[in-house]
Amino acid sequence: MTHDAGEPPIIELRDFRYTYLEGTPRASEAIRDVSFGIRHGERVGIVGPTQSGKSTVVDAFAHLLRLKPGQVFYKGEDVAAPGYDRSALRREIGIVFQQPDSQLIEDVVGADVAFGPTAAGLPAGETRRRVEESLNALNLSYPEYRLRYVHALSGGQRRRVAIAGVLAMHTPVLVLDEPMAGLDPRGRRELLELLIRLQSDRDLTLVVCSASLSDASLLCDRFVVLDGGRTVMDGPVREVLREADRLAELDITLPETVNVVRELQELFPDLPADILAEDELEVELLKRLGAA
Ligand SMILES: Nc1ncnc2c1ncn2[C@@H]1O[C@H](COP(=O)(O)OP(=O)(O)O)[C@@H](O)[C@H]1O
Ligand SMILES: [Mg+2]
Repeated sequence: MTHDAGEPPIIELRDFRYTYLEGTPRASEAIRDVSFGIRHGERVGIVGPTQSGKSTVVDAFAHLLRLKPGQVFYKGEDVAAPGYDRSALRREIGIVFQQPDSQLIEDVVGADVAFGPTAAGLPAGETRRRVEESLNALNLSYPEYRLRYVHALSGGQRRRVAIAGVLAMHTPVLVLDEPMAGLDPRGRRELLELLIRLQSDRDLTLVVCSASLSDASLLCDRFVVLDGGRTVMDGPVREVLREADRLAELDITLPETVNVVRELQELFPDLPADILAEDELEVELLKRLGAA
């Protein structure tokens, strides 16, 4: 890892292990050994194939599981220690779940986004301001959408309402579990642009779970790669992508440019493996074609 050693992590997992339904015949060992820290302001992709443990890891951050002490820390404090204030922790870490419908509570968009701030005891005026700000931030114009029925919206719009509801909490940490899943290419592109804008406008620590490295590589600076409940790689996005052969063995979708580069390396073996953008690839190819 190549992070400033001085600053302590905001979130840390130490030798984290987790078994669902522990002690029952249906016990399932989800996390075998995962350790990493996330620093303030980092944009981390938790990536890996289906069932590699991504959702379990991010649910652990907000203590949504039956955690044992000594494994999960927020700002240096053990979140599973007796007496730890879990509701305070949930005001720090906002999670948009993999199934956003499961977190939509109210029938009407405005009321749904207002739910969290109201439950946190914010005054009505401040809640209204945050609902307006969060909906607008997600390209759901407040006057147009606040009275719409949630169930009448498209899947992509419902996902944006779920994100708005989490944003309205103004948590310093924002976690999105597979935010692009189920969206069409246009929906993905729009959400990607929104998330890139959000993270530059706000001083957020961002965590994104994904089984595809294409969108995640545009959104994150660092990848933690999970497989079978273990961390198999952890480093800056470009460093991880340079190990495309190892990644290709896992059931992960590589960014399209990385696949193209892998094929072109047969012709140009010196082509850098960590090219992320199409224009970058064009420049590198022109250099080589020009020299030929
Ligand atoms: N609520 C649950 N009860 C039992 N097993 C679970 C539950 N949630 C996840 N698992 C198991 O834990 C493992 C990791 O799952 P998960 O964290 O959801 O991975 P991912 O998000 O990468 O798909 C899988 O084997 C999965 O079947
Ligand atoms: Mg998951």
